[in-house]
Amino acid sequence: MQRIQPSKTSALVVAARRARKHAHAAFSNFKVGAALEADDGTVITGCNIENATYGLTVCAERVAMFKALSDGHRRFRRIAVVADTADPTPPCGPCRQILWEFGGDLEVILANLRTEKGRHRLSALLPLPFDARLLK
Ligand code: THU
Repeated sequence: MQRIQPSKTSALVVAARRARKHAHAAFSNFKVGAALEADDGTVITGCNIENATYGLTVCAERVAMFKALSDGHRRFRRIAVVADTADPTPPCGPCRQILWEFGGDLEVILANLRTEKGRHRLSALLPLPFDARLLK
């Protein structure tokens, strides 16, 4: 997996930690926060939102992306994802797809409540993606 060298804790990680506090994770008790940086520097946050059917759960990353899109943002630089785990929590498969389609080759910063755990290019997390370029 391609890795990018971590630097000091970014403001984006701090924003994702703050967003995580709003997670509605009554069923898994697994709270996740995300913070997406648009190309104009705007930070849009998200948290996971579960519901009683379980299957309609929306991950923090998709909440952040859909909030950003609905606010009119179309270009993005990076996203931070935070969970309270020793091992990093990378975006799930559906989130990788949505992030790729709307964000392109984002930098994905993974962190927990204490420290940053790694940086990756989305293209390394989602090799050989399906996207609109193939819909001809
Ligand atoms: N979850 C996220 O929000 N983002 C991830 O990257 C991994 C998983 C959520 C979905 C669900 O609410 C809980 O974490 C457990 O899977």
